[in-house]
Amino acid sequence: MKITQAILPVAGLGTRFLPWTKAVPKELLPLGNRPIIAYIVDECLEAGINDICFVISHGKESIVEYFKEDPALAKELKRRGKEKLLDTLKPYAKVRFGMAYQEQMLGDGHAILQAEKFVKSPMIAVLFGDDLFVGDKPGIVQLIEAAKDISEKEFALIAVENIPREKTNRYGIVDVDGGVVGNAHLRKVKGLVEKPEPVKAPSTLGIVGRYLIPQSVVASLPDVRAGKDGEIRLIDALIAKLDSLPIYSFECSGSRIDTGTPEGYAKAVQTLGMIG
Ligand code: UTP
Repeated sequence: MKITQAILPVAGLGTRFLPWTKAVPKELLPLGNRPIIAYIVDECLEAGINDICFVISHGKESIVEYFKEDPALAKELKRRGKEKLLDTLKPYAKVRFGMAYQEQMLGDGHAILQAEKFVKSPMIAVLFGDDLFVGDKPGIVQLIEAAKDISEKEFALIAVENIPREKTNRYGIVDVDGGVVGNAHLRKVKGLVEKPEPVKAPSTLGIVGRYLIPQSVVASLPDVRAGKDGEIRLIDALIAKLDSLPIYSFECSGSRIDTGTPEGYAKAVQTLGMIG
């Protein structure tokens, strides 16, 4: 299956990093000489995705700016004989970047809905900006490869990770059948629960920030009822589709770092910061 489009919701307030996220998007924190968001975009490129829509909030335009060509800067660096300093940006020249605003931060599903007009292909990738994959193939590449073992034409595929049971109340958790023939890590999802207490969790497979979803899931988001906190979540759109859409989970290999917390970011700096 060829996936060419991705939505990257990066509109969140980043409250865990306040107060400085008032002024600087957490997605632009550096790991070596590149910001976190560049690792996510590079993951898309590695998967052959070159049509990317950022969902941002006001004040986070600098995320998109990072990837744009800057002819004046390029000219000045050339004059100084330092044009190589922009070499890491060269691969982005062939990418089509789009942008949609989320005016109110009403949840990850609501963020994806803001990119509805951008969606042209039957299946799209969704990558949340906090999760980085280290050591193995990037998460979205692993999902696209795993999708080859799915027989249905329309489906959703969710990246999961085996997490310690005491942490289930921090994740969306999948309830699954056994592995698909030939692929023990690919499982049919029969239920989804948002942040269950450890004793109630149907498994220890926690959702991490990579998805393949069909257009029909994006189209269903306006009908998703907001949670008690007023947020419209992608997981609730998937729960509503459980009877009509085959949903699968894939247990990704390699380690994942959640850069959305100060501790996770510190770990990412240790692991990736040196590589640059
Ligand atoms: P988080 O729940 O981590 O929220 O969102 P956040 O605002 O980024 O960070 P905290 O929790 O306040 O510290 C997970 C992903 O979903 C995006 C975020 O930008 C992040 O990439 N998101 C979340 C949106 O784009 N819009 C939303 O309304 C909520």
